[in-house]
Amino acid sequence: MRLDKYLAEAGCGTRSEVKKLIGSHRVSVNGQTVRDPGQKVDENADKVLLDGRAVRYAAFEYYMLYKPAGVISASRIPGDLKDLSQTCVTDLIKDRIRSDLFPVGRLDKDTEGLLLITNDGALAHRLLSPRKHVDKTYYTELDGRLTKDAAERIMAGVDIGDDKPTLPCEIEIPGADMMPVSGSACLITIREGRYHQVKRMFAAEGLTVTYLKRLSMGPLALDHSLKPGEYRPLTEEELYQIRKV
Ligand code: URA
Repeated sequence: MRLDKYLAEAGCGTRSEVKKLIGSHRVSVNGQTVRDPGQKVDENADKVLLDGRAVRYAAFEYYMLYKPAGVISASRIPGDLKDLSQTCVTDLIKDRIRSDLFPVGRLDKDTEGLLLITNDGALAHRLLSPRKHVDKTYYTELDGRLTKDAAERIMAGVDIGDDKPTLPCEIEIPGADMMPVSGSACLITIREGRYHQVKRMFAAEGLTVTYLKRLSMGPLALDHSLKPGEYRPLTEEELYQIRKV
């Protein structure tokens, strides 16, 4: 690939910024200072240095983020000063290499939990495809009592004001150790990803979601050792499992 593309993808700056770095003779490939931004580099073999320091390159990155409440499910290019009043989920990935990371799907600003952050568009497309029906499980707290009848109606599929009712889903009542002090709690597994879907499904039964946390998405489960705002790269096993979706 071209050297300027390589450097930009390695997070060294925008295309025009890295062209300036090359023009200032700050970049070398295999020990030779390079002046041509179009010079070809082999990302698997060549040794690229910027100011004498090795440049880290990754074609793809995959992170499991424990999204905290208050952060929006959007991406920002590092160094982009647009709307700093809002923290984006990609701002939390501090030691990223790639500048083109984005969240796979969206969680509401007040929702917490598992979010996959990557730059692998094809994988994201598959995971989000309505035809794939990837399971998403949420721990949900409600402001009132979830009756058995209401849970059964929601599980069968409810009208939430869209063209079609929701697909059948599963609701499980967790043990007493997971119960909130007031109201009720459940685990709900849905196979779609409509806007505010879980909140709207309970609203159809007159219940307000007071807390929502995503626990899993397909084969990927939120790592219990992560705290809100923390992240880690996916393991090889997780990557293998998620690529099979
Ligand atoms: N359903 C919602 O209502 N909100 C989310 O963030 C995710 C699913």
